[in-house]
Amino acid sequence: MVLKLNLCASAVLLVLGLLSMPIAANESGCVSYYDSAKDYFPDKVESKYASGFSIAYTNNAKYIRNSISGETYVLYQCGTPAPADANPTPASSLQVGNWTKLVAVPGTKIALDSAPASAAIELLGAQDSVAAAYKYFEVTSPCMQQRLDALPRIQQNFGTPSARRRRSSGSSSHLVRRVSYDLSSLGLQWTFTTYGMSDPSSIAVNPENAADMLGKAEWIKFVAAFFNKEAEANQIFAGIESRYNALKTSAASTAAKKTIGLARYNKVANGTVLGWAIDQVQPWLARGLADAGLKAYSGDSVSFHSASDFYKAISGWDIMIDVSGEPLPHGGSTIPEWTNISSGYGFSNGAGRDFAKSLPAVAHNSIYRSDLISSYQNATDYNEHLQIQADALLGDYIEIASAASGTTSAKWYRNMPLQMPVEWMSSAGCH
Ligand SMILES: *[C@@H]1O[C@H](CO)[C@@H](O)[C@H](O)[C@H]1NC(C)=O
Ligand SMILES: *[C@@H]1O[C@H](CO)[C@@H](O)[C@H](O)[C@H]1NC(C)=O
Ligand SMILES: *[C@@H]1O[C@H](CO)[C@@H](O)[C@H](O)[C@H]1NC(C)=O
Ligand SMILES: *[C@@H]1O[C@H](CO)[C@@H](O)[C@H](O)[C@H]1NC(C)=O
Ligand SMILES: *[C@@H]1O[C@H](CO)[C@@H](O)[C@H](O)[C@H]1NC(C)=O
Repeated sequence: MVLKLNLCASAVLLVLGLLSMPIAANESGCVSYYDSAKDYFPDKVESKYASGFSIAYTNNAKYIRNSISGETYVLYQCGTPAPADANPTPASSLQVGNWTKLVAVPGTKIALDSAPASAAIELLGAQDSVAAAYKYFEVTSPCMQQRLDALPRIQQNFGTPSARRRRSSGSSSHLVRRVSYDLSSLGLQWTFTTYGMSDPSSIAVNPENAADMLGKAEWIKFVAAFFNKEAEANQIFAGIESRYNALKTSAASTAAKKTIGLARYNKVANGTVLGWAIDQVQPWLARGLADAGLKAYSGDSVSFHSASDFYKAISGWDIMIDVSGEPLPHGGSTIPEWTNISSGYGFSNGAGRDFAKSLPAVAHNSIYRSDLISSYQNATDYNEHLQIQADALLGDYIEIASAASGTTSAKWYRNMPLQMPVEWMSSAGCH
């Protein structure tokens, strides 16, 4: 009976949905008839915050400039003519940076090598378009893990020596190595990547370099443009924006601002700690921390060879974000536990103990890492969903800011002194 009622309710919703659909719907595939007077993209996105990209539309094309990767992407509706003024950089070009890349949209068969693109694709409901992933690409999302497990993995081509060519710059000339993804045998359209590449079919997705929190979230609009899912992106972004602004307003009355900073110990594979460092806070993070009512360390990066100098430098911090990695014997790093952290910073050895206890961040259990949600394959959700979900990220900062003695209720931040376990994600968690 309950089931029947639900079916009725969804039938009504479906009919309402159909009735409210605009006459000029967006295209979910190639079109078979081209009408030059038709606007193929009735739903449009624009970047309103400091996202690092801009987008302009014509009837059948979208011109996107990614100023972070220094690339231009010209997207045109599949089944309509490519714009004559696109001027894509030839695939054989040895140009370094500033490539113009031409692709037909919507994406229906694409490759992934970008964690934030993966998160955006999931939020947009475009998972079915993911048809391959780069060999070493890993995600935390259980359902995307499950999907990727069943898909082919692609390689990168590093160009054979004969494909490298001399390029003269002034009096010197050097070899330029070309890197591209191996898309051809699978008939893939493009790869979403992190870096701008000298390759006609890689698209860089860069929310981590946006200059503010809502600018990060706007990258869902960027990704959506490749799927003609602008309407969905605008709706999702509007939700993120309004929740963000409501949280920001609620935190604005915070009277006494706590101080927060980023630090790391520098340990080498033989276990020796060579020193300590304070990291510069990136602009988007400074914005987010300020919006949470926190005062972020605002200096440049500094390194220390003496623990007591380092302790002095962080003695005013109420909260510390740890960005250390525990080195593996053969390079790379692993996720540290509290025992590693406290020995890395010298909090647990005789010499440092008394001073360390007087550090407010230590005394108030307020040392965090952004790796609470991680995969067994060493992916962290920090690189994935939180790059887009700026509202939930601000929620974490407010949670951290308001805890009197450390919180264990943040979504992405793991409290180290309170020894929170990592939430390991695997495909078994996909429901
Ligand atoms: C665009 O297409 C998607 C499905 O392909 C649909 O969910 C969405 O509502 C459409 N938007 C408009 C404005 O028609
Ligand atoms: C990048 O390329 C465009 C043409 O595609 C050109 O107008 C522009 O000046 C170039 N910018 C840089 C920084 O080289
Ligand atoms: C560990 O490595 C560092 C430099 O990489 C070196 O200075 C130090 O002596 C080494 N320690 C041991 C115990 O091998
Ligand atoms: C993940 O890190 C562990 C060490 O913590 C390492 O042994 C393993 O090879 C890494 N896995 C991948 C897929 O990189
Ligand atoms: C890190 O801590 C774990 C246990 O928590 C320990 O097994 C490991 O040896 C530590 N790593 C280092 C490099 O001290």
